Amino acid sequence: MSNRDVKNPFLFEIAWEVANKVGGIYTVIKSKTPVTVHEYGDRYCLIGPLVYKTAAAEVEPEEITNWCIKEILDDMTSQGIKWMYGRWLIEGSPRVLLFDPGSISDRLDSWKADLWNVTGIPSPPNDTETNDSILFGYLVAWFLNDFVRKERNKAVIAHFHEWMSSIAIPLMRKRRTDLTTIFTTHATLLGRYLCAGSVDFYNNIDKFQVDEEAGKRGIYHRYCIERAASHCCDVFTTVSQITAYEAEHLLRRKPDGVVPNGLNVVKFSAMHEFQNLHARNKEKIHNFVRGHFYGHYDFDLDNTLYFFTAGRYEYRNKGVDMFVESLSRLNTRLKQSNSSVTVVAFVIMPAATQSFAVEALKGQAVTKQLQETVKDITDRIGQRIFEKAARYAGGDIQNAVIDPSELLTNEEKVLLKRRVIALRRGTLPPIVTHNMVDDAADPVLIQLRRLQLFNHPSDRVKIIFHPEFLSSNNPLIGLDYEEFVRACHLGVFPSYYEPWGYTPAECTVMGVPSITTNLSGFGCYMDETIENSSDYGIYIVDRRMKSVEESVQQLANYMLEFCQKSRRQRINQRNRTERLSDLLDWKIMGMEYVRARRLALHRAYPDSFVGEPDNEFENSRVKIPRPYSVPGSPRIKGSNGFDDLAEQMEDLGFKISGQEEEEEEYHYPFIIKKRSRDSVRDL
Ligand code: UDP
Ligand code: G6P
Ligand code: GLC
Repeated sequence: MSNRDVKNPFLFEIAWEVANKVGGIYTVIKSKTPVTVHEYGDRYCLIGPLVYKTAAAEVEPEEITNWCIKEILDDMTSQGIKWMYGRWLIEGSPRVLLFDPGSISDRLDSWKADLWNVTGIPSPPNDTETNDSILFGYLVAWFLNDFVRKERNKAVIAHFHEWMSSIAIPLMRKRRTDLTTIFTTHATLLGRYLCAGSVDFYNNIDKFQVDEEAGKRGIYHRYCIERAASHCCDVFTTVSQITAYEAEHLLRRKPDGVVPNGLNVVKFSAMHEFQNLHARNKEKIHNFVRGHFYGHYDFDLDNTLYFFTAGRYEYRNKGVDMFVESLSRLNTRLKQSNSSVTVVAFVIMPAATQSFAVEALKGQAVTKQLQETVKDITDRIGQRIFEKAARYAGGDIQNAVIDPSELLTNEEKVLLKRRVIALRRGTLPPIVTHNMVDDAADPVLIQLRRLQLFNHPSDRVKIIFHPEFLSSNNPLIGLDYEEFVRACHLGVFPSYYEPWGYTPAECTVMGVPSITTNLSGFGCYMDETIENSSDYGIYIVDRRMKSVEESVQQLANYMLEFCQKSRRQRINQRNRTERLSDLLDWKIMGMEYVRARRLALHRAYPDSFVGEPDNEFENSRVKIPRPYSVPGSPRIKGSNGFDDLAEQMEDLGFKISGQEEEEEEYHYPFIIKKRSRDSVRDL
């Protein structure tokens, strides 16, 4: 390899979800951008697919100032390739280059043949996703190969995410392209498929015949792409220890390190602002609930808790099966104890639908009409009170004040009665808000029907399945996902397969308690980092050492325990949860990316790093003790080395000073817990 400048390298980050929202990888790339731009400035460029439907809203085109990029793209244009270059319209405004794979589809067959000849990776004819990945991969390899031929001075790092973006890795390895590559996988294809079936995955992970299992599921060619990328890259990483363990067995390469996912944490200047946001957004859910349950709205909203689960619709992997089963147990137990608490549980997971259900829309319409009528009448009453009072010209003061029994006119009484009669309903409030394409075969609906969770007045747990992602334009729940999360009391994500799991992490930074599992990357990370995480509003269901029945019970117990909290306890818990957000900030998490890039440069250009250790992934972690307010928690005083630790933490960017709150006293001493990289083996 050549003598390139490794101190000021170019960084290209390549992913199918660049400016193209599908799931959590979009969140990784987007939220990480500010710290990466801070480090690399204009030496950073993202590469993704050009999806015309969304590109115009995501990217603002810009003139190309880098002459190498300009020359390459001019050449590509002359060969019929369509692309878009500009700034991604997100915080940090990074440079972004999007390629349209469809514009070069006439080369698909020859590139497929080349892929087979060069790497031995087969590609069947009718897999559109794989075809797109091949076209995209060849375009990326073409671009990067040309880039390093023109740019001779600086080192180049190409960081790829997930299999769909990764075909360029084996291609460039074969072509000996003078750059260094990192491949981060956010799951393994085979792991996801195996878990979605009825396989005891974690107890058999070392026994699977991987080629055969991939073949049986029709994903052998995709598996080959993923495996080739993980073996041909300079540095291989995953997002959690649990996925590292999985990759070691299913892809047969032990990752060089773990790059956990962070978030771009926004701190409010007023400490309690996030609590106010909760209260404000909760009012909006109250409005929806009044409408949805019209005719059966006999519960007290002030004593109602909102639980939810959300994400891509992976029924078993995301643990929706366990959530619904545990809700049924919770319902029984709340009924048995004559609890006055009502739980409204939302399932927000996109599925194929035809339209909103008429019954769901009608509920919102009739309550809106009632609300408007009441407003109209109260305006008129106000006007009449004013008129009467304004006419006072001396004499008996009583005559100036309207008689309360005459506040409503007969006409108004009739109007009001008419609106109230419209609230009568012969059916129960629907458990699903849309007409499903396959209602009879939908796993969530099948389970709800089996458990008879039908929103009966006697049910203490009510269900609302909303098979579409949320948006503020939605006529039912007019809230963005973030507003909705803030409005809720508890997020429930009992995943069976979850390499990281952004949904509970997002809850944490918004100060919303959540339930996760020790089979999710996030759950394991928090478990390793915090002592008694439930005190901080992170409940972890054990799906590793317990039977399914025991895990269901544990989840139901956590939810019941949560229902028994007072409002004051919930407010305190939210405060504690929100304080963990620093831990998930990219300013901390991003350090692992820095280490991965350093290792990649070191491996490709060892002569530039003589005498320096090569793998810096080995690091130490902090473990946060229980909050002091909880009885029996250890109390660490300043004299036992805390000052040193505080300093180390501050070096890492943590805010150490205690943020006091009215009811509870908190301090933030940290004890350092060493985590060895071999802990993958302890799983
Ligand atoms: N999400 C969303 N709208 C919704 C529900 C979820 O945008 O109504 C987002 C959520 O914010 C999260 C992502 O979907 O960032 C899901 O990521 P996660 O890592 O939890 O799971 P994945 O889908 O990647 O497996
Ligand atoms: C926030 C608000 C409080 C409100 C509370 C409701 O903390 O600042 O004014 O009383 O939320 O909490 P709850 O858990 O009952 O929704
Ligand atoms: C994948 C995983 C999810 C993870 C996300 C981002 O889609 O399913 O658990 O949070 O990638 O790494």
